[in-house]
Parts: sequence; C-alpha cells; structure tokens
Amino acid sequence: MSLAGVIIKDVNPLSLSYVPPSLPHREKEVSRIIEYLEPFLYGGHVTKVILTGGSGVGKTVLSKFISRLISQKISEHYRGRFKSIYVNARLKGSSFNILNSIASSLGISISLRGLSNDEVLSSLIELIQRKSLLVLLILDELDFLIDIGGSNILYSFFRLHELTEGEGNAAIIMILRNPSYLSKLDRGVLHTIHSPIIRLSPYSSLELTDILSQRVKYALHPGRISSDALNLIAEESAKYGDARYAIEILWKSAIIAEYGNKFVISPEDVREAFFHLPYIPYKDDLSALSHQELLLLLAISNLSSEKSYVSLSEVEEEYVSLCQDFGATPRKHTQIWKYINRLSSLGFITRKVSSRGRDGRVTVVSLRIPTHSLSRQLHSLLEGGS
Ligand SMILES: Nc1ncnc2c1ncn2[C@@H]1O[C@H](COP(=O)(O)OP(=O)(O)OP(=O)(O)O)[C@@H](O)[C@H]1O
Ligand SMILES: [Mg+2]
Repeated sequence: MSLAGVIIKDVNPLSLSYVPPSLPHREKEVSRIIEYLEPFLYGGHVTKVILTGGSGVGKTVLSKFISRLISQKISEHYRGRFKSIYVNARLKGSSFNILNSIASSLGISISLRGLSNDEVLSSLIELIQRKSLLVLLILDELDFLIDIGGSNILYSFFRLHELTEGEGNAAIIMILRNPSYLSKLDRGVLHTIHSPIIRLSPYSSLELTDILSQRVKYALHPGRISSDALNLIAEESAKYGDARYAIEILWKSAIIAEYGNKFVISPEDVREAFFHLPYIPYKDDLSALSHQELLLLLAISNLSSEKSYVSLSEVEEEYVSLCQDFGATPRKHTQIWKYINRLSSLGFITRKVSSRGRDGRVTVVSLRIPTHSLSRQLHSLLEGGS
C-alpha cells in the first residue's frame, strides 16, 4: 500500500520503528555510550550501560542507533563475529521467553524447555566462547521484568563476566523508563548491576522542531508543511517532552492534508490531528493491561474528573459496578491490591496512605493521566477486547 501523494514522499521515515541516519540532540549521549562501550569494540572486558528516561525521549531509537554505529565502527578483525541482539522484555513477557529469544538469535537450536535460566545462560556463554562472538545485548523495557519479579534474570546476565578476554565478549545496554525501579532490585542484583546510568531528559519545543524537521525532510515533498504548523506540533508535544507524540501528530496531519487534497499541511490540519490523537502517555502499556486491570483503571478514571485523590474503597465500589456493566466477574480485594500495585508501578496512578479516613489510615490513589483522553482509550480497549 502506498500513501505517497502530493504531500507525502515516503511514509517510512514517519513510522515509529524507523531509525534515522542521525539523532538530533542526542549526540552527547551517543558519544558517552560509545565511550563506555569502547572496551567491547576492541575485544576487551564486558561492559554495561543503563539508559533511562520518560516515554518518547529516544531510549529505544538510541540503542538501535548505537547498534548500527558499532557494526560500522567495529574493526575488520571482529566484524564477522559481531552480533547485536535486541529484546523487548515487555513483549517477551517472561524471563524464559527473553532467554529463548536471545538463544535463537544466536542460532542455538537445542530445546530449552525444562532448562533453568542458569542452564540456558551456560549454553549461551559456551556458544559465545566457542565461536568467539562479540555480542551486544539490548534489553529494552526492563521495568516490566522487575514488575513481574523476574529481575533475577539480570543477575544471570552478569554471569557474562565469566567470559575472558579473547574468548568472545559481551556488552549490555539496559533500558528502563523509571530509574527508581533500580531500588526495587535485591541487593545482590543491584551490586552486580553497578553500571553508568545515562538519563535522557524530555525534549524542549526547539529540540522537537529539529527532530520533526529531519522527518519532514525525508518523508515529505519540499515545502509541504507551513512553519506555523510545524511549530504548533513542537510546542504542543513539548508539554510532554515526547518525540513519539510529535512524530505521530506529524504523520496524522500529513494524512489529513493529503486526503483533504491540500498542497500544504496547515495549522488547522495539525489541530485536527491533535483532536483525533489526544496525548496518552504509556499507550503501549495500556494495551498490555488485562481486562480486569483496564476495568480498575476505568473505575479510577470515572471517579477522578473532579477529585485529585480517591479512596480505595470508592474505587472498589465503582469497579464492581463496571464489572457488572462489562459482564466480568469482580476479583477479590487481595487481587485488586495487586492490580493497584501494577498500575502504580507502570506510572498510571500514584498512591499514598492518607490519615483522613474515619478508621485512621486509608489508601488513596491519584490518576496521572487526564481522564477525558484515558476514558476514551479504555472504552475502546474494553469494547474491542470483550
Ligand atoms: N533525537 C531524536 N532524533 C530523531 N528521532 C527521535 C529522537 N528521539 C526520539 N526519536 C523518535 O521518537 C520516537 C520515540 O522514541 P523512542 O521509541 O526511542 O522512545 P522511548 O524513550 O524508547 O520511549 P518509551 O519509553 O515509550 O519506549 C521514535 O520514533 C524515535 O525514532
Ligand atoms: Mg522504547
């Protein structure tokens, strides 16, 4: 299918998985990471780096950019043995699947079923040594793994240090949205994880203008977006510091203008794009929630339009009534508590103990996303999923 037309030259640079030839405003971070990984490039000791920052600040694209850069920089001598492996912990869902996908990227064909994580790791290490591979391992969205208590796998990865010089080597880039998650790890893991942390800050409006201009150059025919329209996208997206949102809005505005038979994307097309795509932080995480978790979040959202905090008992009451509406069986209090923990660690809500209640201490929760955009999205997920 081709969306190309009067405005759009090539839709590919507007896709979210596109890795551009340069990353405006992340040049410093690129050099720092390369510096940290330098020993790896020349076959030296195992290195690791942690990348962290909010949604859409470029963590994933930076790691992919680094992988591409290393494959170009690596000396002739090592090139044939270099392997870059990207794993998204959230999409893989469990430690077992993560290890399995690393093993299959390395071409391990033995059946891993029934083996412990440690045993799989041993066969990975054995293979890296035997073939003297240089493996760059990118572990994205690790928050999820820590969330489900699978962080021990991180400990296992540091067994890669068992590799000795000349027998293959590894570098690990760990990506976490929320650095406070590190404090959730047990001390053993934390001690071994001890790595430089690179924090990516949210983008300003000017920075987003540069990021957008790059996409405009690759994706649109010359002169097809007015500077007013471009600035409007950058300014609005800068409220969230999120380049993903900025690019999504550019893409949507381009489609609106193209289908509206316009020659230039105008501020009005951008406004329409904002209307169709309200900002929803953690949109991917939202689709990863279970039906029950969506219902609980909707209950919180329903109660939150006029309130900053709502009590857990009010939330439970609303949740039970929503379960009836959606034909679901309400879960017990202990299970609800687990859902609340997950919603909180994913950043949808915050939670605190308040002493205002009649019985003394009560837990209250607060929604971190505007209710109007959230509620629309939740309804569409709940209706689509049932
Ligand atoms: N400096 C940059 N230059 C060009 N494009 C960028 C830059 N930063 C981010 N992007 C683009 O913005 C989008 C979002 O970036 P990315 O997916 O890397 O965010 P993230 O930090 O991994 O977010 P999340 O935590 O939600 O996964 C991608 O399309 C990416 O290519
Ligand atoms: Mg990402």
